[in-house]
Amino acid sequence: MLNLTIMNFLSVALIALLVGLAVLFTMVRYDLGPKGRLARGGQWFLATALGTGILSLAVKLMIILTVTNFPDAVIEPFIEQARIEPVVSEYDPLLGMPASKRFLWQSLDSDPLAANRAGTNTSPYVWRSLPDQVPAPENNPMTPEKVLLGKRLFFDKNLSWDRTLSCSSCHDVIGGSGDDGRPTSLGINDQLGGRNAPTVWNAAFQSVLFWDGRAASLEEQAKGPLINPIEMGMPSWKEVEQRVLEDPAYQPLFEAAFGADSLIDIERIAEAIASYERTLITPDTPYDRFVEGDLNALSAQQLRGMASFQSLGCVNCHFGPNFSGASLFDSRAPLRIFPIYPTPFEQKYELTRDAGAAMAGSGRGSWRVPSLRNVALTGPWLHNGSVSELKEVVRIMSSVQLGHTGHYLVWSDDHKVMTKLDRPALSDDEIEDIVAFLQSLSSRMLLERIKLAKGSRDEAIVSQ
Ligand code: HEC
Ligand code: HEC
Repeated sequence: MLNLTIMNFLSVALIALLVGLAVLFTMVRYDLGPKGRLARGGQWFLATALGTGILSLAVKLMIILTVTNFPDAVIEPFIEQARIEPVVSEYDPLLGMPASKRFLWQSLDSDPLAANRAGTNTSPYVWRSLPDQVPAPENNPMTPEKVLLGKRLFFDKNLSWDRTLSCSSCHDVIGGSGDDGRPTSLGINDQLGGRNAPTVWNAAFQSVLFWDGRAASLEEQAKGPLINPIEMGMPSWKEVEQRVLEDPAYQPLFEAAFGADSLIDIERIAEAIASYERTLITPDTPYDRFVEGDLNALSAQQLRGMASFQSLGCVNCHFGPNFSGASLFDSRAPLRIFPIYPTPFEQKYELTRDAGAAMAGSGRGSWRVPSLRNVALTGPWLHNGSVSELKEVVRIMSSVQLGHTGHYLVWSDDHKVMTKLDRPALSDDEIEDIVAFLQSLSSRMLLERIKLAKGSRDEAIVSQ
């Protein structure tokens, strides 16, 4: 891949060299030769001796001129390639992008780097473990009776139009990790949804729900899927209430949960389901044991990953006990732009097709920061379920959310300040470390359940 300017330069140098040699030849043949009374052999000897000198001088000049005269950009590719082993090799953000995209605009207000540079992140990051209870809202206190009722509703397929799906069909909390393991969900009549089903485990700790954060509570959330035409497909909440009334088992459960004269209505159905979901939490992870004082709970690799997770800035968004800026512990930053930095991942995984909470077609999406608890168990990942390897998700996050792809020019239009940032792509080892750390957020109880369910599935297959 020789640069055109170098080709031009070399051809000029070659012509100059040929002219020089022609002049030398003429001088020896018609001037020096006759004057020194040299024979033909002598003339050839003199010409060759002087010519070699000119040739090596020209080569030296060419090298010096090449190194000093060309802009860095021309030389850099040759030097850089030898030194750096690019991890995201197909992508050089400075040279590979169309001009309009080469700059990052500091006005992207969710740029975590800007916060770091502005010195707002100076206090040390404090790691915290998950409490073993979820605070319930005042207007829906938790009781064992309500939880029991909610559990029955959560598993009841009669609450879907064709009686084929319950909440647990897409949020398998018995033998799965609280999701359906599909890229996007399958509703009634085999209708494919547009988004990945998040796990319901620890959803109770989130301050807003859904990928785009459009529901403000579990109570509000639970009413959505029932009447979503491509999920459970009930025509109305009245119809849902009717299905519950049909089943005589529910009357005593409702009375126990809400009192003798209680109505069976959608609000109470949602309240009961939400109460049950508040029991779906997993504080039993190696990470929590480590933070609680068992310093052997994490491996050396997981500790390295934990340090990178902090120092790279993953904690700017995935912070607190539930690893999310959209949690009950701290809801300062529930929604973030995603993807922030332009990279080829955008196209490859169609990351901007769905803009989440942002205006459609605005180019950059806005998404609720998901919890990372049990994330190693809930693939495929991202809102569209487009990525099936956790390693790749970490690579994507470090690139699109933190700009770890190479070199950047940051132009602040407000301050007329240009900054060059060196943020090398993460090495495979660093990525493996972070993945290992994310695995330390997996609940032992969930792993056990998944193993058991898989075991009985295998047995069923063997006994067939
Ligand atoms: C057809 C599959 C399907 C069914 C059935 C279903 N869900 Fe979901 N659930 C999803 C999908 C997909 C999302 C994400 C949708 C979005 O973000 O736009 C979701 C989101 C959620 C969330 C939000 C989690 C979070 O982290 O924000 C909760 C909680 C939840 N569902 C509970 C329920 C309950 C309760 C029921 C039963 C009443 C139910 N789901 C039925 C597919 C399903
Ligand atoms: C600027 C905020 C921000 C930063 C920094 C950030 N993330 Fe995220 N992360 C998000 C958002 C928003 C999503 C949801 C993306 C979507 O809509 O699919 C997400 C999603 C994820 C997911 C997928 C979750 C799932 O269930 O599919 C993982 C894993 C993840 N982040 C890990 C990381 C790691 C590791 C880092 C550091 C290298 C990091 N994130 C840095 C905001 C951030």
